[in-house]
Amino acid sequence: MAAMSLQLTVVSLFLLGGVLTFPLGQEAEHTSTCGYESCHPTKPDMLNVHLVPHTHDDVGWLKTVDQYFYGDRNDIQHAGVQYILDSVVDQLLKNPDRRFIYVETAFFYRWWRQQSSSMQQTVKQLVNEGRLEFVNGGWCMSDEATTHYSAVIDQMTMGLRFLNETFGPCGRPRVAWHIDPFGHAREHASMFAQMGYDGFFFGRLDYQDRARRMMYREQELLWRASDSLTPPMADLFTGILPNGYNPPEGFCWDQSCDDAPIRDDPDLEDYNVDDVVKRFLAIAEGQSAVYKTNHIIMTMGSDFQYENANLWYKNLDKLIHYVNAQQANGIKVNVLYSTPSCYLQELHRTNLTWALKNDDFFPYADDAHDFWTGYFTSRPALKRYERISNSNLQMCNQLEVLGGPVSRRGPFGVGDSKTMKEAMAVAQHHDAVSGTEKQHVANDYARRLANGWQHCQVLVSNSLAGLSGSTAERIYCDNLNISVCPLTESSKKFSVNVYNPLARPVTWPVRLPVNGTAYVVSDANGKSVDSQVVPVSPATREVRRSRGFAVNELVFQVQAPPLGYTTYSVSLLQNGPPPASTQHHTPTAIKNKFLQVTFDPDTGLLSSLSNLETKQTIKLTQNFYWYNASDGNNVESIQPSGAYIFRPNSSTPFVISKTAKTESIQTPAVQEVRQWFSPWVSQVVRLYADSRALELEWTVGPVPIDDDLGKEVITRLDTSIQTAQYFYTDSNGREVLQRKTDFRPTWNLKQSEPIAGNYYPINSRAFIKDDDDQLTVVTDRSQGGGSINNGSLEIMLHRRLLYDDVRGVAEPLNETSGIFPKGLVVRGRLLLSLDRPASAADAHRPLAQEVVLQPLLTFTGGDLHPNTRLEFSGLQAALPPAVHLLTLSQWDKDSVLLRLEHQFQSWESKVNSQPVTVNLQKLFTTLDVLGVSELNLSANQWKDEMKRFSWTPESEEQPLLKTFEDPSTWEVTLRPMEIRTFLLKVGLR
Ligand SMILES: *[C@@H]1O[C@H](CO)[C@@H](O)[C@H](O)[C@H]1NC(C)=O
Ligand SMILES: *[C@@H]1O[C@H](CO)[C@@H](O)[C@H](O)[C@H]1NC(C)=O
Ligand SMILES: [Zn+2]
Repeated sequence: MAAMSLQLTVVSLFLLGGVLTFPLGQEAEHTSTCGYESCHPTKPDMLNVHLVPHTHDDVGWLKTVDQYFYGDRNDIQHAGVQYILDSVVDQLLKNPDRRFIYVETAFFYRWWRQQSSSMQQTVKQLVNEGRLEFVNGGWCMSDEATTHYSAVIDQMTMGLRFLNETFGPCGRPRVAWHIDPFGHAREHASMFAQMGYDGFFFGRLDYQDRARRMMYREQELLWRASDSLTPPMADLFTGILPNGYNPPEGFCWDQSCDDAPIRDDPDLEDYNVDDVVKRFLAIAEGQSAVYKTNHIIMTMGSDFQYENANLWYKNLDKLIHYVNAQQANGIKVNVLYSTPSCYLQELHRTNLTWALKNDDFFPYADDAHDFWTGYFTSRPALKRYERISNSNLQMCNQLEVLGGPVSRRGPFGVGDSKTMKEAMAVAQHHDAVSGTEKQHVANDYARRLANGWQHCQVLVSNSLAGLSGSTAERIYCDNLNISVCPLTESSKKFSVNVYNPLARPVTWPVRLPVNGTAYVVSDANGKSVDSQVVPVSPATREVRRSRGFAVNELVFQVQAPPLGYTTYSVSLLQNGPPPASTQHHTPTAIKNKFLQVTFDPDTGLLSSLSNLETKQTIKLTQNFYWYNASDGNNVESIQPSGAYIFRPNSSTPFVISKTAKTESIQTPAVQEVRQWFSPWVSQVVRLYADSRALELEWTVGPVPIDDDLGKEVITRLDTSIQTAQYFYTDSNGREVLQRKTDFRPTWNLKQSEPIAGNYYPINSRAFIKDDDDQLTVVTDRSQGGGSINNGSLEIMLHRRLLYDDVRGVAEPLNETSGIFPKGLVVRGRLLLSLDRPASAADAHRPLAQEVVLQPLLTFTGGDLHPNTRLEFSGLQAALPPAVHLLTLSQWDKDSVLLRLEHQFQSWESKVNSQPVTVNLQKLFTTLDVLGVSELNLSANQWKDEMKRFSWTPESEEQPLLKTFEDPSTWEVTLRPMEIRTFLLKVGLR
């Protein structure tokens, strides 16, 4: 229905008896039930204004999560979540009409554990009556650009599980609520749909997009968030909030705000009720003009508000009373306490059709020169650490299941996966892995992850001891990427346990720091394996500083069974041959049996890449550049580049060096060309004997700033591929979206930042292609990137900035550390794969999985006991190539959570984009599966109880809910991009 015109006659109010007495507000419907039934009634012939009291509590940003919880360090920012919850509960009890929503379970969980049982009972009653409602309900409100779906699903599961176990069905949020993340990913919408949410609300989108949507009343829409899942599986009703997540101008009654309270005693000075009502009605009318129905929503709260909730509620009670009193004067406006789900229910009841959206909400700009595309790359070291931590957590979870109870309490002590789960959940917050927090908070996230991994290491050691029968001490080497591992550096004999978290066998090259020149390496059957010793590169010595002393690296290929381990033994060969020698000229080419790369002998840069199997060759040059970060001193805008925002001063980046000094090493095991571009940029171009991907290992830093210029460093691949402005990036590591330079699928873009406005998040891969060739780049962490010119793909690697970008963090992004006082050095890898477009996914899907879930190497000095079990697989057989084992995690004593994922999009592969069936009973070697129940994606609702609102898109008929039958209870079928979640009742074999 169209917005109503309000009769904005001059409001004059007659008060009986002067000052109001409580209770105020609409007649209380005393409900003993939560959810949609607990919503206040609305008036069909009026404009209904849903007031949603809320607080936005960042799980770390300017302060750490625990500082925010306690209200510590109020000198940095006045914020204390414990007081907010205390105060809100107190105020809710004072008037049954009042409502509050709470979002971040990381905080609620902290608070809940400190409450007395009578307070817990009181809160349960508020929840049961729908007066306190949880929305979103994950551990945090995750970032959408830089998170990987695996970690997002985990953190949502953790928060929602706590809510279900604490409050039952009344604790289950019906609405997803991402009011602050800086742009919105399609994969997040898809996940929310599969988690059973009825709708989704957010606050930030591109200002041009918003302007158009306001004009056409399309701020509420139906997001079809997958091109593979059968509608409405990934359909999510999406609402854009009217004022970010803030109250309307002039109506902020928090203690942190300065707006006038409602002064309603005519005997006192400055009586302002008439003015307040008038202003409110004007705002409501303006808002209803840009929304579709006779319901509008107002977010009454903001960052860390409601610490003194009385201020808010006292004024909201009065606002509702005085505005509704005008109904007697013919004003057709009805104001009520509400929640996002109550508002959503009213929208659903209208039976309207909604604009359909298929793309995503990236990139986000809040003004012409203010593109929030810098945080795609900000804090690259933290982003990598978070990604490795996910891999470590998945292995920790798996080994907890496979090893049984001894994993948690065993020969190495008491271990757990919970600490790591919580650390990872906190790290998904939109100011955590995004890199938009203060430095001390970034340090806190990293410390939590390190601590979590300590707890997991005990568990992993216990589990592997149980599975292998060896209680020999197990050494973890977390710095192998910079060739540091005290055990391998100094031992003459050691063994390496390689644990593979994937459900299929993998071959993987390993490099171990050593000081000998030749080694004998044998596999679990005692068969000797080809190995090679190569000298440690100067760049690696430089970056590791004094943390290790290996002069060489031992390189060999390992092969590990699915969801299991194998063991290699390594012993020094006395009087062995010298290590491979380094050649000090650029070779014309390096190759293995799959790939060949050539170099330009004059520049030392890459010049071509060939796939020898498919007989494809493309021209390929690669070099490093930096954009000069805007310092905010421009004619067009004073916006500087910062933690959030990318704003280069010029669209032409500076080349770091037109040529690279090179040296090369060519052995049967590995061929590499080491390129040196400057004292702060180097790279290794590397081809392992059995790899179908070319590795580019980049090392960047300390980024120099002695010229007082902030720098944003990119690697750029320029190819002969005819891209015609198109390129492709993944969404949260899953489905791939098409991008086009200077273009948005849903509105006519006026491009004002030719570089920053063409950057998109790359979580795990990006590619460019034409009819013949597809070049896929798999990344090892989230990064930003774009395709500015035909055939070109650039990825931002590192940023060092001298100014704050005025979005609140109030620090320039200028990372240093104890080891790197002159600026952080960051190292990472890109893996390049050249394929025919029709079969490229068959290559990049498994490749990306191998980077996300990398094998864990653990070491034991000396000889292993002869009874040690050297090889183990937790699976009876490898899963089919299309199936990924996404989750295997202990749920409670007798059950485990299992997620199986079809990892191909429906259009991607002739071979793999087919339904596959897996037998759950025949999965594991150490577990008997005794029972199975299916859950929604976030494991907080049984699949057969999952009912969502259905919504009709404007452009087509409402899709029919298709149901697919599994062949039997035990045999489950996965269709392209489907994730299925099961609770398995198990017994140890
Ligand atoms: C919406 O449709 C349902 C079922 O068709 C009907 O009962 C209801 O009255 C309709 N509501 C409105 C507001 O038209
Ligand atoms: C929700 O929690 C209750 C216990 O409060 C439990 O019985 C139920 O199985 C849980 N639901 C799911 C889907 O896990
Ligand atoms: Zn926030």
